[in-house]
Amino acid sequence: MTTAPVVPLPLDRLRARTSEKWREYPADVLPMFVAESDFPLAPAVTAALHRAVELGDTGYTASRTPLAQTYAEFAARRFGWDVDPARIRSTADVSMGIVELLRRVTEPGDRVIITPPVYPPFYDLVDEAGAVVERVPLTETDAGWRLDLDGIETALAGGARAVLLCSPHNPTGTVHSPAELARLAELAREYGATVISDEIHAPLVHPGAVFTPFLTASAAAAEVGYAVTSASKAFNLAGLKCALMITAGERPAEVVRGLPLEVEWRTGHFGMLAGVAAFSPESDAWLDGVLLTLDRNRRLLADLLAAEVPRARYRLPDASYLAWVDLGGLGWGDDPARRILREAKVALHFGPQFGDEGRGFVRLNFACGEDVLADAVRRIGALARS
Ligand SMILES: Cc1ncc(COP(=O)(O)O)c(C=O)c1O
Repeated sequence: MTTAPVVPLPLDRLRARTSEKWREYPADVLPMFVAESDFPLAPAVTAALHRAVELGDTGYTASRTPLAQTYAEFAARRFGWDVDPARIRSTADVSMGIVELLRRVTEPGDRVIITPPVYPPFYDLVDEAGAVVERVPLTETDAGWRLDLDGIETALAGGARAVLLCSPHNPTGTVHSPAELARLAELAREYGATVISDEIHAPLVHPGAVFTPFLTASAAAAEVGYAVTSASKAFNLAGLKCALMITAGERPAEVVRGLPLEVEWRTGHFGMLAGVAAFSPESDAWLDGVLLTLDRNRRLLADLLAAEVPRARYRLPDASYLAWVDLGGLGWGDDPARRILREAKVALHFGPQFGDEGRGFVRLNFACGEDVLADAVRRIGALARS
């Protein structure tokens, strides 16, 4: 059976949505900032939520749900990853999972390595956990962005206690190689540190790249690692609040088992119901259709930028729907998204918020219709020519 692309909703429908993407800016602005997507929901998700609404099934999330088993089967189908459902616990969102784990694997004031440019809330999550950020920027090579493993070793040797990994990486769309992940795990084990791998974008890896779950990278990775993930990016369920914390090794499993019941209790019931529907085999064809559309869009963006904003520098992301675009060549200063918002009426994410490495960059969300993407890039092109 050939896969049918999932077509994003038209703008007039989307503007009736009331989430952050559609309420932050006035209607003359094209919103391409926050990581929400413009696809209709996967039909199995819609059906599960309809059922719950009709029933008034709006109570607390049950302590026994099919979520862990359903995710384990999804991980086996999509990543070839053999996850033990008994090693999965849920919580409200990936951010909360990260904070709760960091609280348990660090002492107040410990340093936690992050790899900027990176998802801006990582700075706050480390802070919220009572730890301190240690920045070890990615390095840009001809083949794309890479972890600076020597820099990470230096930081670990200097006493950093944990690495907060973004895998795949937001905003660059980098899929880390098995060799890099195995080396990272080895370093963490050598220095007695922990790796927390945020794998929220993993279901959205594009053709040509292969996602390696951190916990499968090596025996050392299983010993030192935690994965935190969710259906919320691939299936646009962020408002429903459900994420998974996964371990493989005995010690990390013990840490997760030791989390207060309250951490799991905060899982959203609708998030759990939608997550089960999203990770079920019934939604595989929908996810494949979304990937088809996103693969087209990441390439379309390259063509549009080449035609409209030739001084932009953009590398196709290997995962997800976020484009990290260097507009430094336009002479619009450190934070070009400010001028683009003001004058072109396109809302992009502000590069410097991802770290100093983001000066001159913007992050553009291309999980939208081709017409919207084309309109946005043409508006930026017109500004560049003005
Ligand atoms: C890398 C990464 N982690 C976490 C999140 C937020 O996840 P949650 O809403 O589950 O906290 C996002 C959202 O875009 C993200 O890109």
